[in-house]
Amino acid sequence: MKLAIKGGSPVRSKPFPQWPIWDAHEQHNLQDVLKSGKWGSAHGEQTRTFESEFAIYQDAKYGVTTTSGTTALEVAIRTAGVMAGDEVIVPAYTFIASAIAILNNGAVPVFADIDPVTYNIDSQKIEAFITERTRAIMPVHFAGRPADMDAILAIARRHQLAVIEDAAQAWGAKWRGTGVGALGDMGCFSFQSSKNITAGEGGILLANDAEIARIAASYSNCGRMPDGMWYAHYLMAGNLRLSELQSAMLRAQLSRYPQHLQVRQSSMQFLDEHIAELPALTPLEHDQRVTSHACHLYIMRYNPDALDGIPKDAFIDALRAEGIPCSPGYSIPLYQQPVFQNQEFGPFKLLLKDRMPREFNLPNTDRACSSEAIWLTQNVLLDGAEGMQSIVDACEKVIQNRHELGSFGAK
Ligand SMILES: Cc1ncc(COP(=O)(O)O)c(C=O)c1O
Repeated sequence: MKLAIKGGSPVRSKPFPQWPIWDAHEQHNLQDVLKSGKWGSAHGEQTRTFESEFAIYQDAKYGVTTTSGTTALEVAIRTAGVMAGDEVIVPAYTFIASAIAILNNGAVPVFADIDPVTYNIDSQKIEAFITERTRAIMPVHFAGRPADMDAILAIARRHQLAVIEDAAQAWGAKWRGTGVGALGDMGCFSFQSSKNITAGEGGILLANDAEIARIAASYSNCGRMPDGMWYAHYLMAGNLRLSELQSAMLRAQLSRYPQHLQVRQSSMQFLDEHIAELPALTPLEHDQRVTSHACHLYIMRYNPDALDGIPKDAFIDALRAEGIPCSPGYSIPLYQQPVFQNQEFGPFKLLLKDRMPREFNLPNTDRACSSEAIWLTQNVLLDGAEGMQSIVDACEKVIQNRHELGSFGAK
């Protein structure tokens, strides 16, 4: 069978579901807010209600909305008492925002490697990075798969560190039956437009401690205190509030979410079973303590050495031509991003210039970026069994007909 990239017919010509998905529910909620004239959270009820609905959904006591996942993380770091010059341990295989939220507080991101079979922070390696300046650990529940929270919480307790969960990709994810974001001191989620629950932009911070939630709410609302006057400001903070229009959309999105999550989870299970049978491709490993995966991304680990040295990008191009919208994902480990290599730390340049090494020894992160990780996004997983079968068929077709891609000099 001729590969589509060489002029053959593609395995799949039907498009996968588009994202975002919305219906009359969003429309109705938006119209209600519009007509109410209460567009800001100071006056309406949508934001407060969404905060409590989402906190309940994730098993947390308190929710504090913010303008984005990034600002939720910034507020969490500030609320944890991290000071300029302190260190926060974070994986280097994540979106830049995890590290930027640390830098924006003048703190130092200390990059740890990922576990090669889960792509989450390797909990075995965290302790080696702890110094007298370490104040917090920021595990990222990458792709929606919870990190090893048992180990991370035990390390944090031993060393009296805060745990700030970057759950920006992990709505509905559970570790041993408890929602992520409710396991550490604080957990932060994103509602940016690619996310499984979205209002275009937005974020939320969850906490179980009333005092933490009170401080975080103040940091997201100009330093105001709930019982204080409107023009009394107690903390150094700007306006990071979500609007009522965004919250109204998020409430509609959340009501649809459990059903979407189920579809994505069965797609992931199908892919895990079938991808595992193919040469050169391996699914990430499932930890039994992960009782719900948010399925924001589906990740295949590609081994070019098992496929005549065909580079990841060439394999992806061939899959895309077959109608499978996959991507190489993060192709630059965070520490290699220009912001770190050129030390572009804005107002903190002098403070951080001798504190941030340019080189880290993170072989699993490097390999995931350069040659291994292939991503499928959450909207693809909404297609159901027929769509998942076409992904497996396309992978099989490219693998079987790889000679058509030319010679790449296998190692
Ligand atoms: C792991 C991770 N952390 C943080 C963020 C930041 O969220 P936002 O884009 O809403 O600021 C994202 C979003 O892309 C993310 O994927």
